[in-house]
Amino acid sequence: MDAREIEADLNETLVTEAEIHAKLAELARRIEADYEGRDILLVGVLKGAVMVMADLARELRPHVTMDWMAVSSYGAGTQSSGVVRILKDLDSDLTGRHVLIVEDIIDSGLTLSWLLGNLRSRGAASVEICALFRKPDAAKVEVPVRYIGFDIPNKFVVGYGLDYAERYRNLRDVAVLAPHVYS
Ligand code: XMP
Ligand code: MG
Repeated sequence: MDAREIEADLNETLVTEAEIHAKLAELARRIEADYEGRDILLVGVLKGAVMVMADLARELRPHVTMDWMAVSSYGAGTQSSGVVRILKDLDSDLTGRHVLIVEDIIDSGLTLSWLLGNLRSRGAASVEICALFRKPDAAKVEVPVRYIGFDIPNKFVVGYGLDYAERYRNLRDVAVLAPHVYS
């Protein structure tokens, strides 16, 4: 895809790279204060959270460690069903660890709600969530998110790790995907 084709697939830019970096710096200062003296294990949810993880982790003072999970929701189409399958599990033992889940976006909340329960059952000292985006109008379950970047409208967005059919993840800004792309 060339730059003009990509541009034709996007509607308005919702959040710029500079706004994301400023927000992550703000969240990092809060996280450092809240976890003072404790080592954090950042758990990124593949693949969408790769950019958030890379930028948040570098904003945080040592020591953090990073681990990754890949999950998939059963069910047809683009809607999350809440029945989640682990595609790649963590390498780490969570016993006694302070786990901070790093997620790109909360839509229905079903995926994170399941993940939270799953990680809490593994003996961690604490499990909290940091999500860059949240769509309040799409919520089906309430997820207790400690750190949230931006509340956004209930539209499909891409960029900064977020994809449609694996495309657009490497866009620096987050933009609304034009409906003609998926309809
Ligand atoms: P739930 O509904 O379980 O789903 O909260 C969260 C996951 O769905 C994906 N998702 C999106 N991906 N643009 C994307 O590129 C979006 O607007 C969007 N909304 C949800 C994403 O993988 C997220 O982890
Ligand atoms: Mg995701």
